[in-house]
Amino acid sequence: MVAQRARVSAEWLGEGVLRRSVLLPDRMPKSPDPPMTTLKILVLNGPNLNLLGTREPAVYGHATLADVEALCTAAAAERGAEVECRQSNHEGVLIDWVQAAGVQHRAGQLAGIVFNPGAYSHTSVALHDAIKGSGVPVIETHISNVHAREPFRHHSYISPAAAGIVVGFGIDGYVLAIDGLLRKARAAG
Ligand code: DQA
Repeated sequence: MVAQRARVSAEWLGEGVLRRSVLLPDRMPKSPDPPMTTLKILVLNGPNLNLLGTREPAVYGHATLADVEALCTAAAAERGAEVECRQSNHEGVLIDWVQAAGVQHRAGQLAGIVFNPGAYSHTSVALHDAIKGSGVPVIETHISNVHAREPFRHHSYISPAAAGIVVGFGIDGYVLAIDGLLRKARAAG
């Protein structure tokens, strides 16, 4: 907050009577905090993404989850935004986080979620419902091109509820998703 100086005001009370008053900074009415300009994004990773770096490197590369989170933090900072990164192997935990993100989004405190739901993408009606029910914008993100892999990866329950989808760009996909989410949030004002 900018330091406030004492404010002097003068007010005519009637003919020839001028009341002068000095408002000291600690007596001044508090002006509201400036509007939030730093957009916040939640980066969520689902099951088995904690194994990045050692898990099927031919498919997912050699970067670890910590590398992905550092990449997201830097990408957000370059774009004047902030990320919070979380990972869970548990569907219910991910659902709780999506619901809480919906509350934060409605309060104007969160732009949305960059979400790699891992294998839950292909199985979880419950995550689909959580995204729809919470109303939080989600950019579904997959490191690999799921459409070029086994048929069971071609369908996603998340995609119909997502605001956007990024697949097949390796871990750069997280940066593309952050960029897309911020563009959408800024366009929406
Ligand atoms: C993944 C693709 C999913 O099919 C798989 O189950 C994952 C990772 C990806 O990032 O490419 O766990 O979401």
